[in-house]
Amino acid sequence: MAKRVLVTEPIVDSVLDFLRDRYSVEVGRRGSLDTEEALAEAVPGFDALLPMLSNPVTGRVLEAGDRLQVVANHAVGYNNIDLEAARRLGIRVANTPDVLTEASADCAMALLLAVTRRICEAEDYLRAGRFEGWEPLGFLGMELGGRTLGIFGMGRIGTALARRARAFGMEIRYHNRSEADPETVRELEAEYADSLQELARSADVLSLHCPLTPETRHAVDRRILEHMPSHAVLINTSRGPVVDEAALAEALHEGVIAGAGLDVFEREPEVHPRLLEAPGCVLTPHIASATRRARRDIGMLAARAIQGVLEGRPGEEIPNLVA
Ligand code: GLV
Repeated sequence: MAKRVLVTEPIVDSVLDFLRDRYSVEVGRRGSLDTEEALAEAVPGFDALLPMLSNPVTGRVLEAGDRLQVVANHAVGYNNIDLEAARRLGIRVANTPDVLTEASADCAMALLLAVTRRICEAEDYLRAGRFEGWEPLGFLGMELGGRTLGIFGMGRIGTALARRARAFGMEIRYHNRSEADPETVRELEAEYADSLQELARSADVLSLHCPLTPETRHAVDRRILEHMPSHAVLINTSRGPVVDEAALAEALHEGVIAGAGLDVFEREPEVHPRLLEAPGCVLTPHIASATRRARRDIGMLAARAIQGVLEGRPGEEIPNLVA
């Protein structure tokens, strides 16, 4: 009998075709498996699960997977999966590193430019019919050359953003759990900051690229925001809960910092109502990896991890396993 794969919602066709050529595949309706209950009910009988970030793959879900051998997340982050429980149950877990690095860094750069040059605000003004001609004092923003970009989490995406920012003449500082690769540091002429607090104090733009862990949850809180210069801007394309969203909304309303570009939110798909009204913000619906190429490659990497676990020979390497 063909092995059974559950894909929790529709993904790129060529990836589904690859899976259908080999397995019996079921694809969930978008959003229908976003709760622990629904997922735990759906998972029995499947050999492999291909979930989205929005699917809570908890211990209860993994225990319900009576035949489950592998969970291949459709994302590089895997904070939606209980890795401890997976290890205990002998279920392998894969993520999708590398293939979304450039797309995500492009998006972070786009937010950085959109916020510092007030692009969305200016567009709204024009569309509202308020453009009455060139103004010497209209929509003044921040020029990037010579400004400091602070990167919290100098991994793949942080490094890719830093390269882009260097091309715009920005100086790079970063804070990481460990020092970044010396070669990269040399290439970017990047300076290490001992703490997030120190990074926040010295950055004109602070961009977040860390994973969501108990240590990074609410890492950017009121205290950190108060360390940032009042002209500074925060960019978040990592995970919403890294930022205390209510504190950020208040800080923006009070002018503690000048703006924010956010692609991720604390309780997606909800966005804090005070943030929706806050000045200087560009808000996007978690689209950092949303390019045709990245979404195809993410899907294929996840699908190949499923194939590797279900059919691989012992000792054969699957590079993107995290458990
Ligand atoms: C997207 O947010 C990812 O982790 O891939």
